[in-house]
Amino acid sequence: MRKFAIGLGFLTTLLLPACLQSTVATPAQDAATTQDTAAVDIASDATVTWQTDPTNTPKSLHFTWQHDPATSISVQWTTAATDLTGYTPKIWFDKAASAGADGAKMTFSAATTASGTGEYYYQSLVATDTSGTRYLTWTVEATGLTPDTDYVLRAGTWSDYQAGAFVKPDLTPSVVSFHTAPLKGKRQPVKIILAGDSRGGNDKIALNAERLAALGAAFWVFNGDFTDFCQQDQWDGWFDAMHPILNTAPLMPVQGNHEVFPPMYYGQFALPVNAGVPDGYQEHAWSINYANVHVIGLDSTSAAAASDQAAWLDADLAAARADPDIDWIIAAMHYPAYSACTNHGSTAWVQQYWVPLFEKYNVDLIFAGHDHDYERSWPWVNNNKVAKGPVYVVAGGFYADGYTNGSAAWTATSSHGNKSNYVVMTVDGKTLSFIAYSGDGASQLDTYSLSK
Ligand SMILES: [Fe+2]
Ligand SMILES: [Fe+2]
Repeated sequence: MRKFAIGLGFLTTLLLPACLQSTVATPAQDAATTQDTAAVDIASDATVTWQTDPTNTPKSLHFTWQHDPATSISVQWTTAATDLTGYTPKIWFDKAASAGADGAKMTFSAATTASGTGEYYYQSLVATDTSGTRYLTWTVEATGLTPDTDYVLRAGTWSDYQAGAFVKPDLTPSVVSFHTAPLKGKRQPVKIILAGDSRGGNDKIALNAERLAALGAAFWVFNGDFTDFCQQDQWDGWFDAMHPILNTAPLMPVQGNHEVFPPMYYGQFALPVNAGVPDGYQEHAWSINYANVHVIGLDSTSAAAASDQAAWLDADLAAARADPDIDWIIAAMHYPAYSACTNHGSTAWVQQYWVPLFEKYNVDLIFAGHDHDYERSWPWVNNNKVAKGPVYVVAGGFYADGYTNGSAAWTATSSHGNKSNYVVMTVDGKTLSFIAYSGDGASQLDTYSLSK
């Protein structure tokens, strides 16, 4: 959401080593502007106005987590506003069980509203104005939520709420929904979808998004390369195409090399700021716990970035492996440690700085993209096939143009990228299984399972 990026692909050499960052106030629970805390029937009232000025209706709305997925949610959107002043982003949320899936009986109170902040981000290499084009995003975080619970939500702004009606509202015309995570350590089925590399594939995403959203993943992990050239119209196209998915499940991303203007990426995704992440890498490297799964996101876009995150990664992995609540550790990054694809192939700095840690802590699965094909390795330790050990997956085909797959000593299976691909993973206690599907969902490229 707000931190400057350091390393990235071919622009690395252009970057300054400075760790600039803008500051944003911590979103706070909103003080409700009314004494009315009763459940109301506002959403089913056809006379209710949700937009005073439709140009301020939230667009590109999406969910991430900055804190505990069991008790928090972060919501972001853009509007036509071009100035931080004069607009306060707010959310109104409630449990679906009482509010209804359409939000018709949402309760309005201080506990079911929150306000947040806006932030400029720039089409430049740094998070401050270097005469790059400026954009604006709004972020609201709700905390204190009930774990493992369906919520409905409207986002936008309003000036007041009186007698069951908003004053000057500019809210989402229909409710969006999210589900909080089970408490850490819960052992119950969890579905996660992992994908990456969409670059220019927005039309194909749009063709598949409703179907993919209906799969009901608890959350998505996206391995970077969202757009071709990191232009805002390309981002807008990606968010538009993805909206059925983004309006029902959080998406946790990592930076790819095509996020050539890092502030465009970090501005539009509010991510965890984990303790111990070195300055300049907050939100580049993050981890969350979802039930019994520990998920780590890493910025693999340069050797310097890989080196700089290694100490934090070591500590994060040590803590996760020592945690009796955590059965599974999954790492996500853009550049693959091992890839037999001839377009890019393996990444020396990932092998140098992170693979020894993946092996040291026996990380279960390492997902990457960058090569637009599908590949899964054997359990692979010290450059040898082993019975049990880290398994490396390249799933870089979320509708970007495909690359030709290859095969190397580590390769268990691979598929051409022209089919596109995404991975649907199910964790259920001590078992984990996943299926890699073709982009149209019609065929299975790979199936794999692990047990503890
Ligand atoms: Fe890439
Ligand atoms: Fe790519």
